[in-house]
Amino acid sequence: MMEQDIQRVLFTQERLKSRVAEIAREIERDYEGREIMLISVLRGSFIFMADLCREIQLPCTLDFMSVSSYGTGTSSSGQVQITKDLSEDITGRHILVVEDILDSGNTLNYLLRILENRHPASIRLCALLDKPERRVKPVELHYRGFTVPDDFVVGYGLDYAEKYRNLPYIGVLKPEVYGG
Ligand code: IMP
Ligand code: MG
Repeated sequence: MMEQDIQRVLFTQERLKSRVAEIAREIERDYEGREIMLISVLRGSFIFMADLCREIQLPCTLDFMSVSSYGTGTSSSGQVQITKDLSEDITGRHILVVEDILDSGNTLNYLLRILENRHPASIRLCALLDKPERRVKPVELHYRGFTVPDDFVVGYGLDYAEKYRNLPYIGVLKPEVYGG
């Protein structure tokens, strides 16, 4: 059972739902009168994206991209590659990048620079979780769900070795599961 691998629950389904609604209110206030293009970074943000976009009461379009940051086990590296690019042109659009977690910042530092080079009208970042202790590259975060300690967390889209994404809550993975 997946539950046996969880050391403790950080955010319940209810807590996640209410925080997602609060973030949506902030976004609605900031983007009033503009059309937002939400970009989900696969795969970790797919559940957050699905919940967030349904809370936002403004016209939105959606697109998806996928990046791989070469690294092993529980950390990423500075080398990032786009494995699935956007389907839409973002020139002149108001882009809101939706991520599961901002950790070292390697992935997003690279990704945001690539997207900026495509000349959107504006670009902002929304991450459900922020792990500031781990940051090695600077990344500006406009919408933050929760700050988390330096533990490996899973659930609500976040994985370890592609598992646990379907847990409805976010919890800390027992270190013995990843040999930590
Ligand atoms: P970064 O490049 O180190 O900021 O991390 C980018 C990606 O690593 C995130 O989008 C996640 O997919 C993954 N990641 C980082 N920390 C965690 C964690 O605690 N649990 C699950 N995935 C994580
Ligand atoms: Mg991941």
